[in-house]
Amino acid sequence: MKNILLCVTGSIAAYKAAELANRFVKDGYGVDVIMTDSAQEFITPLTFQSLTKRKVYTSMFAEYEPSQVEHISLAKKADLCLVAPATANIIGKIASGIADDMMTTVIMALDHAPVYICPAMNTKMYENPIVQKNIKTLESLGYHFIEPKESLLACGDLGKGALADLDTIVKEVTENI
Ligand SMILES: Cc1cc2nc3c(=O)[nH]c(=O)nc-3n(C[C@H](O)[C@H](O)[C@H](O)COP(=O)(O)O)c2cc1C
Repeated sequence: MKNILLCVTGSIAAYKAAELANRFVKDGYGVDVIMTDSAQEFITPLTFQSLTKRKVYTSMFAEYEPSQVEHISLAKKADLCLVAPATANIIGKIASGIADDMMTTVIMALDHAPVYICPAMNTKMYENPIVQKNIKTLESLGYHFIEPKESLLACGDLGKGALADLDTIVKEVTENI
């Protein structure tokens, strides 16, 4: 069974990640979920645990399995890492080499898995030159981006920044895993 590492961050689109997890599981993939603290303000780990039938990782130091160092074993096990939705913050952290929580540490420790990042944020945030520079930096290092779409955003603005369609994300992941 191929394993998808689904990283969920603190965007209003976090609820859509539950449907992604659901679809991957139904398509026969194993899905491990890591959530940031902010993501848990939007959706609970229990939702993902119920859909994936696996424990959900939220803490760096919980060390859920005493026989292994969890962040390394999770990184080794992943065949593909999907960050969806990806906040401006997580993109900046990955681009800057920060590893101060479970998600960023596992992403830094990835072995062979390609990383697909699905930004979701307000248009002004997405167009911010720092965010754009971080995206270019990551692309130059081999990270893949699934572009956000133009839509009426949750904040009321109309513009680019909405999470890509789930069909687009599922297609990209399943074709490249
Ligand atoms: C209601 C609400 C919606 C938010 N939506 C987004 C979003 O879509 N994209 C984003 O980059 N940040 C968004 N944020 C801000 C992030 O939650 C904040 O930057 C947080 O520090 C991100 O942490 P994380 O990257 O560790 O998950 C939102 C905040 C709130 C209160």
